[in-house]
Amino acid sequence: MKKEMKPVHGVWASRWVFILAATGSAVGLGNIWKFPYITGDYGGGAFVLVYLACILIIGIPVMTAEIMLGRRGGMSPIHSMQALAKQAEAKKSWSLIGYMGALAGFFILSFYSVVAGWALYYVFKMPTAFAGATAESVGATFDGLLAAPYTLTAMHFVFMVMTMGVVAFGVNKGLERMVRIVMPLLFLLLAILLGYAATTGHFSDGLAFLFTFDFSKLTSEAVIVAMGHSFFTLSLGLGAIMAYGAYMPREMIVGGVKKPVSIGSTVLIIALLDTLVALVAGMAIFPIVFANGLEPSAGPGLMFVTLPLAFSAMPMGVLFGTLFFVLVVCAAWSSSISLGEPLVAWLVERSWNRVKASVLIGVLAFVLGMGSVWSFNIFAGAEYKLFDRTFFDLLEYLTTNIMLPLGGLLIAIYAGWVMKETHVRKELGMKNFKLYMVWRAVVRIFAPLAIAVVFLNALGVI
Ligand code: TRP
Repeated sequence: MKKEMKPVHGVWASRWVFILAATGSAVGLGNIWKFPYITGDYGGGAFVLVYLACILIIGIPVMTAEIMLGRRGGMSPIHSMQALAKQAEAKKSWSLIGYMGALAGFFILSFYSVVAGWALYYVFKMPTAFAGATAESVGATFDGLLAAPYTLTAMHFVFMVMTMGVVAFGVNKGLERMVRIVMPLLFLLLAILLGYAATTGHFSDGLAFLFTFDFSKLTSEAVIVAMGHSFFTLSLGLGAIMAYGAYMPREMIVGGVKKPVSIGSTVLIIALLDTLVALVAGMAIFPIVFANGLEPSAGPGLMFVTLPLAFSAMPMGVLFGTLFFVLVVCAAWSSSISLGEPLVAWLVERSWNRVKASVLIGVLAFVLGMGSVWSFNIFAGAEYKLFDRTFFDLLEYLTTNIMLPLGGLLIAIYAGWVMKETHVRKELGMKNFKLYMVWRAVVRIFAPLAIAVVFLNALGVI
């Protein structure tokens, strides 16, 4: 480890700030936009059950492992993994986890910004466009947006500047203050929306769709998507949470006494909040779908056609609707920052200036994002598709369903098999020995096996 590779990026002010920042990273488009639409695509209940199971038995243990590696490494994922491998006298090639993660983060950032741009557009559209809206008119508005590459590009550009702007300033400063305000407000607005959905008369249809487990609908494709999404929604598998973990203090002064900051309970809170937001978003969106005769499988536009409908029918809907999309943008913002941070932190540790590094990553991700912008218009035709998927679809599939679980698999194996157990125990500081043994068994055997089985199954091998 070179001398200058100290944690130059700062430390979170408290454990709660870490929880807010990590929850800010986890709660994003994945919860509010993607979870409802893929649940619709894959038929509802059984998919939700597999997703919940993946969160519980793979996601939570892997997140614990990822934060632990980050806190021990104390640097960007690439350098942390290099330093850790050295410490454990393991092969240098374990830093592959960091490199692959950085690439996946870069890919995700490129299309995440495009979708966040849609929400940004709706912030401006909400006050004027949806008075007296019908299912057809909101659908036409969304289709119109997708058909307008310049508008999409402009929104994508603004969102990318917002994201890399915060990263350029350092995560502590802007982000800490932002998430303190935004996250509670987001919860409040979701509750209001849920309240409205409950009055549509179709609330129970929505619940039935989400929670009736019809396993005949469950394909191997659905299982791999559910698992991929459990990684995506918890921000796992690419080092984002590892980078955040690097800024997590080992000890905190609580009431004048120094206390160790435990990772396990922190992870539980983050996972719980994240899951809650996804389920509430689903419970808010599906009743509106059924009340308006829409299709649950409407695809990526689901949120953008259901919510304007709901808001246009609600008293003060313009206000709430606008506010809601502002918050979706903020939720996406606090997530996208964690996609850019690992890469920028890595460059900064290689003596780059933080601002320059942020601009470089931002420009590159913006350019790659144009492929996703055009996937909905210029390159939407069948002649531009590969395996019946657009560029956007391919990038999303590759990152979420392959790179993230693969990253998670390697992280679990590293934490379970390669890292010295004394180091693991010290870093985790778990007091409950039985619980520790359960976690260890999961990261050593169960999680890698489960991920491998899902992969092989999707490939048609088993
Ligand atoms: N978790 C975020 C969401 O649900 C997206 C995200 C942010 C992410 N950082 C990540 C996904 C790192 C995977 C890895 O919208």
